[in-house]
Amino acid sequence: MLEGKVVLVTGAGGGIGRDFALDMAAAGAKVLVNDLGTSVKGEGTSSGPAQTVVDEIRAAGGTAVANTDSVADWTSANRIVQAALDAFGRIDVVVNNAGILRDRFFFNMSVDEWRAVIDVHLNGSFYVSRAAAAHFKSQESGAYVHMTSTSGLVGNLGQANYSAAKLGIVGLSKSIALDMARYQVRSNCIAPFAWSRMIGSIPTETADQQARVEKLKSMATSKIAPLAVFLASDAAREVSGQIFGVRANELFLFSQNRPLRSVHRDEGWTPQSVASHAMPALRAHFYPLERSQDVFSWDPL
Ligand SMILES: NC(=O)c1ccc[n+]([C@@H]2O[C@H](COP(=O)([O-])OP(=O)(O)OC[C@H]3O[C@@H](n4cnc5c(N)ncnc54)[C@H](O)[C@@H]3O)[C@@H](O)[C@H]2O)c1
Repeated sequence: MLEGKVVLVTGAGGGIGRDFALDMAAAGAKVLVNDLGTSVKGEGTSSGPAQTVVDEIRAAGGTAVANTDSVADWTSANRIVQAALDAFGRIDVVVNNAGILRDRFFFNMSVDEWRAVIDVHLNGSFYVSRAAAAHFKSQESGAYVHMTSTSGLVGNLGQANYSAAKLGIVGLSKSIALDMARYQVRSNCIAPFAWSRMIGSIPTETADQQARVEKLKSMATSKIAPLAVFLASDAAREVSGQIFGVRANELFLFSQNRPLRSVHRDEGWTPQSVASHAMPALRAHFYPLERSQDVFSWDPL
């Protein structure tokens, strides 16, 4: 499905991104495998992971080149896109997948923890996308696939930085889809559920936690790649501005925010009438304070 296309996958040295790179290459794409080779928290660097995935792709008869620049900086993000152009002469698809976690309850979260996560996820997705945009615009084609999360779409404890970044990515994707539709450039999000080192950091002290983690292990990272390959391909030419989810063998389309219900008073509102009229009318439609696991309450299928 991707014969002749050049695909850039960030954070492709492990986890979900590695499967993206392998499957994109198996579908015929030339792949720029980017990975900083850092820890889940974003500490340290290594050229090993990106090169290992490139070696795997080549061993399977595919075409790939490694790059170890960080997405979290405008200059180095430009180097990632340039590396794809230098190696393959063009760029057709950007997959913004690189990520780190710095979980902490909001009331204890440091500015550094906030900035590090926003820089990799939200700023990194903007930098790499923006660096490729001029090429997509002039060739009048291109596809973006961004990784969001139900931590942002639904909610999660101890992830204010990550949730804000991942919901920001949804806004970024929609804006790209709107601004670049005239150039036949598409942009979509995937909220994955997959057993990777990222969720391998979940504590397993109680029997309840251990049982939960056993279920999570059934969600293979390889299950996310078929949707990403499809979204990268010309078969998805009618698909843009959407938010999908993948969890083992389930595939989801997520809703997007629209007004749920409205109330109106000819004379306008006072704080008192908001309390006595608007809130009683709207309250039935309030969302409970749910987390992702409350909404996705059934076992992965
Ligand atoms: N695993 C899940 O269930 C899940 C759920 C929701 C969202 N996601 C998202 O999916 C994506 C992949 O996650 P994963 O679970 O495979 O995690 P992972 O930790 O296995 O992979 C992330 C990769 O990104 C790389 N990376 C980190 N910072 C980088 C930087 N600045 N520049 C370049 N590369 C960098 C890391 O070295 C690592 O190889 C992330 O965006 C994550 O937020 C994952």
